[in-house]
Amino acid sequence: MKNNKLSIAIFLSVLAAVFFSCTLLAQKPAEKYTSFKPGQLWLDNNGVFINAHGGGLIYYNKKYYWFGEHKIEGKKGNSAQVGVHCYSSNDLYNWKNEGIALNVSDDNSSEIAKGCILERPKVIYNGKTKKFVMWFHLEHKGKGYATARSAVAISANITGPYTFVKSIRPNANTNPVNFIASDTIKSKDNFFLRDYAIGQMARDMNLFVDDDGKAYHIFSSEENRTMHISQLTDDYLSPSGKYIRISKDKSREAPALFKHNGKYYLITSACTGWAPNAATIAVADNILGDWKVIDNPCQGPDANLTFKGQSTYVLPVQGIKDAFIFIADRWQPDNAIDGRYLWLPIHFEGDKITIPWMDEWDLSFFKTKK
Ligand code: GAL
Repeated sequence: MKNNKLSIAIFLSVLAAVFFSCTLLAQKPAEKYTSFKPGQLWLDNNGVFINAHGGGLIYYNKKYYWFGEHKIEGKKGNSAQVGVHCYSSNDLYNWKNEGIALNVSDDNSSEIAKGCILERPKVIYNGKTKKFVMWFHLEHKGKGYATARSAVAISANITGPYTFVKSIRPNANTNPVNFIASDTIKSKDNFFLRDYAIGQMARDMNLFVDDDGKAYHIFSSEENRTMHISQLTDDYLSPSGKYIRISKDKSREAPALFKHNGKYYLITSACTGWAPNAATIAVADNILGDWKVIDNPCQGPDANLTFKGQSTYVLPVQGIKDAFIFIADRWQPDNAIDGRYLWLPIHFEGDKITIPWMDEWDLSFFKTKK
């Protein structure tokens, strides 16, 4: 009898705990979205705020997958307490929670120990090895932003679990394709030369796969002063040794690269930490060739602050010609989990490229535009 009462009491308290955690997690019943509302709360299929910051997307087997930094509440959320979160979608508006694709480790000696900085994860698929390859910016736990490395994880399944492979400082002892003799002049600001033997710094990063299957790793290097575009090996796990230094001493970060009508475009931000600043877009005929800055593509309120956001990714929309979505993060460093997503259409008009602000829009934008 006593035992029965005890089990009922335990059962009721478990039920109450489950009920309370569910009400906390499910902020609202899942709704069906039919448009994008940049900067507004965006909930997943369970009614929970999508938690995939600094993200990247991949289209695979007729579905989109969104990978990003899972952030927790408060300032602590600026470091990795959980890992990389994955969501999937058929229509880009409605996202299903696929769980944590890469977990940080409870082992403090791991390179991805809980509390490290793990930013801007991107996933690409390698058709030769049949592996999904994730790259991200890694700062070892307790070292602030001094480590400046890129890391690689792989999985046979798109949603994971991903296994950590290694972290690197790219292109040690390697000259870029646009090397000039003056690059080797010693000075206190020549960070390229300083890091020549140990490999170049790699912070804000992105990946891009070209039509010929070659993949590129784009990252802020040399104390964030110079951007590098570095070709990967055919398995996408390492630098191939072919790379270029661009925007020398221009301090650009948050790179997002895409290709349209045979030309390469690179959107970047200036370097002001979590605070927003003006974006620029640059163009090149050859990804490892000459890059020319065009302008700030943003138009509308706060266009000089990238709409209070920072570039993260440019997504080519499947099945619609000339349809690209600019994706940015509106960071909230005091309460990291509350960072918002800005998804806006890229508009091409001849050679002119703009990103107009819109409170609300849907994919018909691409079909109806002139
Ligand atoms: C931003 C960068 C973010 C994060 C932040 C830290 O400029 O894009 O990914 O590193 O700085 O201050």
